[in-house]
This record gives sequence, structure tokens and C-alpha cells, in this order.
Amino acid sequence: MTATMKAAVIDRYKQPMPVIKPVPRPNIGPNDVLIKIVTASINPIDIKTKDGGLRMLLKYKMPMIMGSDFAGIVTKTGSFVSDFKVGDAVYGRVQKNRIGTFAEYIAVGQGDIAKKPANLTFAQAAAIPLVGLTSYQALHDIMDIQPGQKVMIQGGSGGIGVMAIQIAHYLGAYIATTTSKDNFDLVRSLGADYPIDFRTTNFADVLSDYDYVFDTRGGKTLSDAFKIVKPGGKIVSISGLPNARFGREYGVPLWKQLAFGFVTRDLTKLEKQTGASYTFLFMKPSGVELETLRQLIEADILKPVIDRIVPFSAINEALAYSASGHATGKIILKMTDDPESKVFS
Ligand SMILES: NC(=O)c1ccc[n+]([C@@H]2O[C@H](COP(=O)([O-])OP(=O)(O)OC[C@H]3O[C@@H](n4cnc5c(N)ncnc54)[C@H](OP(=O)(O)O)[C@@H]3O)[C@@H](O)[C@H]2O)c1
Repeated sequence: MTATMKAAVIDRYKQPMPVIKPVPRPNIGPNDVLIKIVTASINPIDIKTKDGGLRMLLKYKMPMIMGSDFAGIVTKTGSFVSDFKVGDAVYGRVQKNRIGTFAEYIAVGQGDIAKKPANLTFAQAAAIPLVGLTSYQALHDIMDIQPGQKVMIQGGSGGIGVMAIQIAHYLGAYIATTTSKDNFDLVRSLGADYPIDFRTTNFADVLSDYDYVFDTRGGKTLSDAFKIVKPGGKIVSISGLPNARFGREYGVPLWKQLAFGFVTRDLTKLEKQTGASYTFLFMKPSGVELETLRQLIEADILKPVIDRIVPFSAINEALAYSASGHATGKIILKMTDDPESKVFS
């Protein structure tokens, strides 16, 4: 008989919420490990994916299990797996075509995971992979921030913002960030130098000569970023529109590259007018970079910020809360009530 597991499943795009039901446990390939998921985090991409918002980049077969990152325990290893063994505590962000962490088990490539930071609980560890990798790839890999440079981070109290501020601080940047006034103490404690209340002040009216903007909002916030960046500076967006260069690098068909170029023509014009560059980032899973983050966490340089921890059975409320757009840090799902996992402190 096929072994089953509980998973949060959608049967069609735009289904109002997932349904928790039994599905077959995944099989593993030679380079995979099977993980018993202890905790998973909610990310805005979950709802975007459910609603078909990423269909220009990715199409999912239905039914589909939701969820992108996790912390858990290795329960089985494929025949080519050499870096992990049964019983290892790990964390990871799965490949975009292999999502499904809102479940009791997931099969994941050994290259997409790393050992869980030893000083974090499973609940804390699940708060890192997707937002930590995204922020590291934007601020370190693309911007290559050097000490003393100035970076503006939009949404400093969100899942991304809390990680991005800490990474920018570690890299030695002077950091401005938007959040609401109630979160000023939080963002300062993470390393922000200049918090700006987005409810009362437009950042573009008070900032100038920035080296970089990390845009997490898109739209007018993204076009306003060009007003504060120096010539030669960089704007990296994770919420704007993908441009033609991104389409080429991502390997989408030519017609999509042209479509991306067309919808981002105003941003291309702003690039020419200001001498700043625009990069759209779609983050990539990376066990190697998760290992770097593990070292920074164990050295007390980075720490997770958690809004709330809820049981798997409350997933729909958790997704709705994330969609409200006002979480402070991460929302974590406990995927097991296994009494031997004393992991939720
Ligand atoms: N392309 C990629 O690879 C990628 C990867 C990760 C995330 N993303 C995208 O990045 C975006 C941010 O993700 P997230 O996880 O940080 O979201 P989030 O956790 O839901 O962000 C919530 C935070 O945003 C703040 N906020 C709300 N309105 C704001 C405004 N107008 N200006 C500044 N801050 C505001 C809220 O602050 P208050 O509570 O004070 O209102 C809250 O703390 C999402 O759209 C997500 O899909 C893309």
C-alpha cells in the first residue's frame, strides 16, 4: 500500500484556500533526500503562485502542494547523496518546479539544502531560507555592497526586510528603510540607520545619492527609486516586472522576452535618463549560500525575526494574515505535532 502524508493542496489556480488532505508521500531520485518537515514558512509567493500570478514564468500541474521553504530532518537519502545522512537536521528552499513544503514530507535535491544552524530551533530555522537567500543574492551577489555605501531597503519590517537589513549591516552599508513608525525600534535593532515612516513620508522626498535600492514593492515605489540613486547605482527589485535582460538570462522564449521588454519600457527609459541600472531578481535555491547564512547565524551576525508560529491546521488563517501585507518578520507553520520533536521554543 502507498504511504500517505497530510499536505495543503490546491486543485486549480485561484482556489480560495488550500485544503489539507492525504496525498502519496514523494519518491526520491538518486540526488535527493527525503525530509520529514518540522516547520515551514509562509511567503507572499505562496498566494501569488496559488492565484496563477507567476504563470509567465512557471506553470504548475494540478493538484499542487503549496509551500517553498522548510526546516526538517533527513529520513532517507538517494544513492548519489554524500553530503547528508539520515537524522541530519537541515533547512532549505526547494526548486521552483518542486515546491510543496506545506506537507509532512518533501523530496529535495541535496544541492538545495544545508545543515540547520545549530543555535536555532526548527521554528527559527524555517524563517531563513527563502528570505535569507533572496536578500543575500540581491545585496551581496548583485549589488556587491562595500563598506560605507548607502542602500535603501523598502519594507524593512517584512520577511525580506528584516533579513536584508541585517545582511546590509554586516556588509557595512549605511541603511535607510521604510516601515511604519511602530517598527522603528525593530529595524534600528537590526542595523537600520534611517527609518522612514511610509505612511507619512515619501522616501524619494528625503533621500538622495544612494548607491543602491532594494525594491520589494514595485509600481510607483520602484519608479521613485530612480530619483534617489546615483549614476552608476543599482536598483534591484523582487516585486517589479521582469525586463528583457532577465527574460534572456532566465531562458524564456523570445516572444516573452519581447513582452517583458515592452512592459518595462518606462524603466528602460529611466535607466537611460539616470545612468542607474535595473535588475529584476527571481531568487535561486542554493545549498552553498544557505551554508554561508548558517555560518553568519552561528556567529550571531544574523538572526530570524518571527511574527508568529501556528499549527499546520491554521494554514488558511496564516496565509490570509500574510496576504494582509503587515506581518512583522516571518509566519511559521508547525508541520508536526510529533512529541519527540521538542523544537518549537
Ligand atoms: N522575486 C523574488 O525572488 C522574491 C523573493 C521573495 C519575496 N518576493 C516578494 O517581495 C515582496 C516582499 O516580501 P516579504 O516577504 O517581505 O513580504 P511581507 O513580509 O508580507 O511584508 C510585510 C511588511 O511590509 C511592510 N509594508 C507594507 N506596506 C508598505 C509600504 N507601502 N512601504 C514599506 N513597507 C510596507 C509592512 O510594514 P507595516 O506592518 O509596518 O505596515 C510589513 O512589515 C513580496 O511581494 C514577495 O512576493 C520576491
